[in-house]
Amino acid sequence: MQPTGNTIRVWDPIIRIGHWTLVAAFFIAYFTEEDLLTQHVWAGYVVGTVICIRLVWGLIGSKHARFADFLRSPAAAIRYLRDVTRHKAQRYIGHNPAGGLMIVALLITLSGTVYSGLMLYAIEENAGPFAAWAAEGQASMSLPSVVPTARADEDDEDEYAAGAGEEFWEELHELLANLALLLIGLHIAGVAYSSYMEKENLPKAMVTGRKRIDEPPSAGNGTHSIDQETTK
Ligand code: HEM
Repeated sequence: MQPTGNTIRVWDPIIRIGHWTLVAAFFIAYFTEEDLLTQHVWAGYVVGTVICIRLVWGLIGSKHARFADFLRSPAAAIRYLRDVTRHKAQRYIGHNPAGGLMIVALLITLSGTVYSGLMLYAIEENAGPFAAWAAEGQASMSLPSVVPTARADEDDEDEYAAGAGEEFWEELHELLANLALLLIGLHIAGVAYSSYMEKENLPKAMVTGRKRIDEPPSAGNGTHSIDQETTK
């Protein structure tokens, strides 16, 4: 990544297109729910696809896209947040340790939301990639009984089990979607605060892919330097 003027390219197109596609797809899925099931499901597929691509890109992508570049321990994230409160946090050109952890939390929560949604879609609508598997599960629940007199009771039990399964996935799907919304709120607050502290428009950087290169500390501008290696 070569510096141009006083900026450097940080986010590659896959990260940027993936990010804004994820934003649009998540909110479409969140606000369509049951009323517009087709749109809801397709938006969910888009979220799932972006996450799958992002997971692979985290292993083989550009420098700051890689998990190895920004995955830090929770202790490092706490240390970073403590430094933030003392106004002496180091500036990171990629994700900072707290932001990196939030991204992992978002990816896990969104993956769980998509998975539980697919399970629910299979059970409720008998559709989607898990439909055949869910139908198989239900068929095995209603195999003919060798004790006919017990059949009525068993049917009730089967229906009860299927209903309980559906309720479980429904509740989990809703819980994870709301947890994702909460994390997104925190994510946006973190981005806004970092933008203010670093005097850099980070959402704009997620559009252009470029970030400012700080003056070296010796220039006496008082800001903490970014990791030097990235500007070489
Ligand atoms: C309009 C609201 C949003 C804004 C302004 C925003 C802004 C940003 C910015 C500036 C970054 C880079 C942070 C950094 O410099 O370290 C980022 C990263 C990220 N955001 Fe958002 N975000 C928004 C909504 C969302 C939503 C809704 C999601 C999830 C559905 C999301 C998921 C992510 C993820 C996964 C990353 C990591 C990017 C990567 O490395 O692939 N963001 N966001």
